[in-house]
Amino acid sequence: MKKLISLILAAMLLCSAIPVFAEETPAHVLVVFFSHAGENYNVGVIEEGNTAKMGKIIAEQMSADVFELVPVVPYPEDYDSCLDVATEEQRSDARPEYEGEIENWDQYDTVFIGYPIWWGEIPNIVYTFMEAYDFTGKTVIPFNTHEGSGQAHSQRDIEGLLTSATVLKGLAVRGSKAQNDADGTGTDVANWLKNIGLTQ
Ligand SMILES: Cc1cc2nc3c(=O)[nH]c(=O)nc-3n(C[C@H](O)[C@H](O)[C@H](O)COP(=O)(O)O)c2cc1C
Repeated sequence: MKKLISLILAAMLLCSAIPVFAEETPAHVLVVFFSHAGENYNVGVIEEGNTAKMGKIIAEQMSADVFELVPVVPYPEDYDSCLDVATEEQRSDARPEYEGEIENWDQYDTVFIGYPIWWGEIPNIVYTFMEAYDFTGKTVIPFNTHEGSGQAHSQRDIEGLLTSATVLKGLAVRGSKAQNDADGTGTDVANWLKNIGLTQ
């Protein structure tokens, strides 16, 4: 009888240990993005940026950690003023600072990098991030939102910059879709992740 009780207790312990172990396994995938809330093209004034919404969907589907590039000097909420700041940053090839830093960078083998297209380009603050970390051996996957430019030439730009990484094909989603159609964006993301071999 004692033996039977010990066996049952051991089985219970084993069952309860499995989920705990699964929860504590550190994520090996990181989603990093920059996104601008406030007034934006085609969506009015938004509380959460379009790329942020897309990034969080990716993070959910990939069980990834998230790091948002939050500018130390916030961008203007007003759309036209933000256009002006972006123009000036591009003209001066600025490297705007962001808050904090990524802890345990070495823990991640796969890094998604997300951004809106700004004047046909990746916003400068994303370059600040890409130039700050060693991507050797990592798999990098771009994603972005836009209102007509698709990826523009951002895929090529990332491949050209992060030459020590393997860069997979990115996904571009319309900002208004990412903002207003979570289900549709979720389906686009799921199909894409499957196509590039990251999910089954
Ligand atoms: C400064 C600025 C420049 C933009 N330039 C472009 C562009 O060249 N092509 C495009 O398709 N959309 C452009 N847009 C629209 C954004 O890419 C689009 O609204 C995006 O979804 C914004 O994402 P966010 O909310 O994550 O910042 C621009 C928006 C801003 C604020």
